[in-house]
Amino acid sequence: MYRTHTCGELRLEHVNQHVTLSGWVQKIRNLGAMTFIDLRDRYGITQLVVEESASKDIKDRIAGLGREFVIQVNGKVVERTSKNNKIPTGDIEIIIESIDVLSPSEVPPFTIEDNSDGGDEIRMKYRYLDLRRQVVRKNLELRHRMAHLIRNYLDNLRFMEVETPVLIKSTPEGARDFVVPSRMNQGQFYALPQSPQTFKQLLMVAGFDRYYQIVKCFRDEDLRADRQPEFTQIDCEMSFVERDDVLDIFEGLIRHLFKEIRGIDIPALQRMTWHDAMEYYGCDKPDLRFDMKFVDLTAQAKHRDFAVFNASEYVGAICATGCASYTRKQLDELTDFVKRPQVGAKGLVYVKYNEDGTLKSSVDKFYNEDDLKRWAESCQAKPGDLILILCGPKNKTLPQLCELRLEMGNRLGLRDKDVFKPLWVVDFPLLEWDEETQRFYAMHHPFTSPKPEDTDMMESNPGAVRANAYDMVINGVEIGGGSIRIHDSQLQQRMFKCLGFTPEQADKQFGFLLNAFKYGAPPHGGIAFGFDRLVSMFAGLDSIRDTIAFPKNNSGRDVMIDSPSEISEEQFKELGIRLQS
Ligand code: AMO
Repeated sequence: MYRTHTCGELRLEHVNQHVTLSGWVQKIRNLGAMTFIDLRDRYGITQLVVEESASKDIKDRIAGLGREFVIQVNGKVVERTSKNNKIPTGDIEIIIESIDVLSPSEVPPFTIEDNSDGGDEIRMKYRYLDLRRQVVRKNLELRHRMAHLIRNYLDNLRFMEVETPVLIKSTPEGARDFVVPSRMNQGQFYALPQSPQTFKQLLMVAGFDRYYQIVKCFRDEDLRADRQPEFTQIDCEMSFVERDDVLDIFEGLIRHLFKEIRGIDIPALQRMTWHDAMEYYGCDKPDLRFDMKFVDLTAQAKHRDFAVFNASEYVGAICATGCASYTRKQLDELTDFVKRPQVGAKGLVYVKYNEDGTLKSSVDKFYNEDDLKRWAESCQAKPGDLILILCGPKNKTLPQLCELRLEMGNRLGLRDKDVFKPLWVVDFPLLEWDEETQRFYAMHHPFTSPKPEDTDMMESNPGAVRANAYDMVINGVEIGGGSIRIHDSQLQQRMFKCLGFTPEQADKQFGFLLNAFKYGAPPHGGIAFGFDRLVSMFAGLDSIRDTIAFPKNNSGRDVMIDSPSEISEEQFKELGIRLQS
């Protein structure tokens, strides 16, 4: 028997028992008379002791040990004289009675402790060692637990997990596909799914009624903290439902997770229209952990001789509570922040509402105190507050003001990782105009249904049509999104027409789905959550990478297995691919 207990299990109640433990040597402290070894496994760390009176054989074996050796020890559990209240096993230690090396280890490239001395690149190259660290492993344990809770929740509601294929044809999610050449059909390629969208809709046509799948999706897009080329969705679809049925079920899922994992009761989720999200927060994923809503000052700000405001389509403000005391330096920093190319504003106007009730602004030349007072009233500013104003074309200024709002949220410590403010953003536009290609694209995907009351405008004013689509947003992160789908082939044809597809093109790309809809398609809708994002939100991480056992780095590489990699000429030949030199 390799072990009677794990390294996280022994307590005072085990004192005087003879036990066997197996694990990795985390640390050896040789104090002359006595040697202490920290033995680690997945469950914890237990202190082993070699006493001065130990046999020569034991002492010799200990002398040959190094970090990360896998050992097995027999010994007696004793109460520690100096206890360690930082670890659950800290009341006891094991006096070693025999020891065997099960597997030696070379000196690891970094120390395997919570605060490792390994940089990112080296930890990723030796990810299997990184995963031995408790801080990393606990994220994967959380991931496992969440997957388990999700499966149970959905199973109780009679959702059925169905696997869909990985070698498919392009799905219309809008990112670039990863493609796989076919040897048996030379010159042709499979695409890896960006999501199982069309398959889950076909399962509804097949009468499966409630489907889910915790499933890998692949998108060839640039990496960011919340994006991996290969990521996992909790993908769901339901038949005979309207929007609110879907929202209720999945709001329930998220609240269940918060309750079970974090012990938090989340109140019913706010529903905000996409229009309001853009107007008041400048983005479709507002962070509602703090207020600081935008105030439109356009009409109020345009009556004097300030050419910059007068020439602007939109003048918008936010009120930063208690920031009137900002120094010149702090205001300059904010100006530099909004002028960074990533934000792109031309400048920043501020109004200080001083504690003594006076108002002071960077545009005092053009506006008198009464003007400023009116702005302050519109912003519901109080003495002590700072009003920050940006202006320009509305579609550019709103996102700039969004960045500024988030920056102020950071500076004021209003984005606490232990506070969660989920909401639904609803009524997205159905279509998005693209200047470059001069055509409309589906904002979500081409199967998303327009709101019934807007369908009449699909031909006359396509840009104004709202979709029956929704996103779940938590703390400024898009955690999930979905829609009620089109289940009527005629409406689907109209949608394709809006997107500039000829009937032939639509048939070539999506004929299989359009055909399926001819054989009795139930009304249906669904949603997909980004599972990695959800786990990283619950774990309080900044990046989804540490929720994934073997992630890719920022250049899309797995530096451990060294992929992507070249393939042999032989493989190219088999696949019928000729490389151009
Ligand atoms: P969507 O494209 O909005 O919808 O994706 C759903 C959710 O998946 C997550 N996500 C990602 N997570 C990590 N890395 C990525 N590269 C990445 N891309 C997306 C996000 C997002 O909200 N088929 C539709 C869903 C539906 O209509 O039912 C879909 O895939 O959290």
